[in-house]
Amino acid sequence: MLTVEDYRDEARRRLPKLVFDYVDGGAESEFTVQANRRAFESVALRPRGGIDPSGIDIGVSVLGSELKLPVILAPCGSAGVVRSGGDVSGARSAAAAGTIFTHSTMSSDRIEDVVAAAAGAPVWYQLYRVGPVSRVEAAIDRAREAGVAALVITFDTAVGSLRVRDRRNGGLALLGSSRLKAVPGFLRLTGSPRWLSDQLVHGLRPKLMNVIQEDGTPQILGRGPSPSGLTWEDLAWIHDRFGGPIIVKGLLTGEDADRAVDEGAAAVVVSNHGGRQLDTAEATLRALPEVVAGVNGRCEVLLDGGIRSGIDVIKALSLGARAVLIGRPWLFGLAVGGDTGIQAVLEVLRTGLTRNMALVGVKKVSELDPRFLRVPSDWS
Ligand code: FNR
Repeated sequence: MLTVEDYRDEARRRLPKLVFDYVDGGAESEFTVQANRRAFESVALRPRGGIDPSGIDIGVSVLGSELKLPVILAPCGSAGVVRSGGDVSGARSAAAAGTIFTHSTMSSDRIEDVVAAAAGAPVWYQLYRVGPVSRVEAAIDRAREAGVAALVITFDTAVGSLRVRDRRNGGLALLGSSRLKAVPGFLRLTGSPRWLSDQLVHGLRPKLMNVIQEDGTPQILGRGPSPSGLTWEDLAWIHDRFGGPIIVKGLLTGEDADRAVDEGAAAVVVSNHGGRQLDTAEATLRALPEVVAGVNGRCEVLLDGGIRSGIDVIKALSLGARAVLIGRPWLFGLAVGGDTGIQAVLEVLRTGLTRNMALVGVKKVSELDPRFLRVPSDWS
């Protein structure tokens, strides 16, 4: 398997349709899912020849952490439905590759176990509000005590979106419901025996191990309140309570990025949630230059959405991202081979980035800039 697309194809073979579609799908017409990819395809590279290819350095520093690979694992809820212990695998694999793992609120792994799995490598915790504010406060305290390096506040999830594939399949949340047999095509889960036995061993009802209810037990996925967005008004108290760096994820405009800096964000993630929230929202690579201009060097800018190769990483970094995040690619790796699969996907990106840096004629990622790209004429 040579490409992220190969891992996607294999994940499709191994997972029940319900789970593959949950990972792969997006909101409404999935226009933004495609737009994220098209934006990368519409930008051409302008290489410089005659450069000695030895000593290519793809290391970057992100919020003071030295990364060996400028590709961070994005927060992905319900990774445990892809394979049990999915976030622990993600954290271990990110650490092995010398990068950061971001742990979603909507996870079935305890934040303490994820931080332990990273064995000293930084872990970020992505915060949603699920239920009363007291639960958010408790989650912040727990994340701090667990030793997470930064909090990621997701801003593009004010409400849930319409994910057509999920709705037609009966919804992933139904795995957590007592009406499991109501899932249309439930019997098809038995067509993925390895997946099913892994899930049955760990209990089919995914527990949200970091969303603790008032009776002290974790909420079950699909029962109780859904995640809702945190707001600009929440940033200040979250920052005070956490005491460490705050990253705002899910911005697409210079104005919002400027405000995020004013409100104390140490970094912003240009993101449309991988096209899973507002359909027809602008492609992230297209929005990146405006956000970079909006923050004007006052905070670090990261990007996610549609990164599938080392060449994509080069394009995002050339337009001003310090590093990128990947969502679906690490879940495809997880589906195919657990830790080994995630590490293989990261290796595809690492070797692709190194090889193509040499072909572009750049030795360090910090030397990448817009002159290495030809963007469509209506981008400027
Ligand atoms: C996500 N994403 C996400 N984001 C977030 O802030 N909190 C979350 O719980 C989730 N959950 C989630 C589940 C799944 C299955 C996917 C695929 C994605 C969005 C994620 O962090 C990231 O923004 C996108 O996945 C990036 O796009 P690509 O790399 O998947 O194209």
